Amino acid sequence: MSSVTVRVPAKVNVQLSVGPLREDGYHDLVNVFHAVSIFDEVVAKESEAITVTVQGEWTDRVPIDDENLAIQAARALAKHAGRTYGAHLIIRKAIPVAGGMAGGSADAAGALVACNELWGLGLPFEDLMEIADDLGSDVPFSMLGGTAVGTGRGEQLSELPTGGRFHWVFAVADGGLSTAAVYAECDRLRDAAEVKVPWPQLSDPLLDALGTGDAHQLGAYLTNDLQPAALALRPQLARTLEAGQRQGALGAIVSGSGPTCAFLAADAAHADRMAAALATADVARSAIAAQGPVPGATVM
Ligand code: C5P
Repeated sequence: MSSVTVRVPAKVNVQLSVGPLREDGYHDLVNVFHAVSIFDEVVAKESEAITVTVQGEWTDRVPIDDENLAIQAARALAKHAGRTYGAHLIIRKAIPVAGGMAGGSADAAGALVACNELWGLGLPFEDLMEIADDLGSDVPFSMLGGTAVGTGRGEQLSELPTGGRFHWVFAVADGGLSTAAVYAECDRLRDAAEVKVPWPQLSDPLLDALGTGDAHQLGAYLTNDLQPAALALRPQLARTLEAGQRQGALGAIVSGSGPTCAFLAADAAHADRMAAALATADVARSAIAAQGPVPGATVM
C-alpha cells in the first residue's frame, strides 16, 4: 500500500466536570465526549522519514516539527513495532486549531490508524488505544468517536448509547487558547474563591437526554467547568454565547477549553439558520453547522 487516508472527527464535551488538581498536574474528570461531523483527514504516504505537511485554512497555525502530535503518534507507533519506519503525513485541516475541539488529538489518532495500515502492522485497536493514551488525554476518544464518558484524566472511556442525532453550531474564534493555561486559570479561580472542589459525577439527566435523543433536555444540562476560566481569559466569548442564545440555541457552552463556542439546535434547519446568523453577527471568525454522534478515526 503506498497511501492511506483516515478521516477523524472533532469533539465537543457535553459535560466536562473537573475535579481537584492531582499531584501529576492533571485533574480527574467526568468528561462526556461527543464526536461531531467536522473532520480532519490524515493521509500517510510511503517515505524514508516521518515528516508532515498541513493543508487548509489553518496551515500557518499547526507546528510541523516535533511538537506536531501526528508526528509524535507515528514515532510512538514505530517504536511500539520495534522498527524504523517512515511516512509522509499530509494533514487536511478543518477542525479549528487550539479551539477546544481536539483537533491535534484527531490528527494523532489519524496518524496512528493510517500508519498501522501503511506499514502493514495489523495491530489491534486495543494496542493503538494504549499508544493513544500516552499521546494525550483526548487522543483515545478521537480513535473511538461516538459518545463516551472519560474518567481519570479523560482517557478511561466507556461508550454511551445515544438515541438519535444532535444538531450543533460551532462558533470558531480567531485565536486559540492553550488547554494547560485554561486548566491553570480554572485552578486559580477556584483557589481565589476558596471553593472545595467536589468529586466529579456523571449527570443522570444528561445521560437520559443522550439515551432518548432529547435535544431540549440535553441543551438544559450541558455543563463545562472550564467555561469560567475560558471566559476569564477571553471575555469576548460572553458575547458569542449570548448571540447563540438569541438565535434560540437549546444550550450554549464553551467547547472544552475553548475558545470555540458550541450551540445545540432543535434540528438541522435550525442549525443552518443559527450558523448563517452567527456568521454575520461579528462574534466569531466563522460558524459551522455539524451533527453528532459520528464514528472515530476511520480508514477511507
Ligand atoms: O493530556 P493533554 O496533553 O492533552 O493535556 C494538556 C494539558 O491540559 C495538561 O498539561 C494539563 O495541564 C491539562 N489537563 C489537566 N487535566 C486533564 C487533562 C488535561 O489538567 N484531565
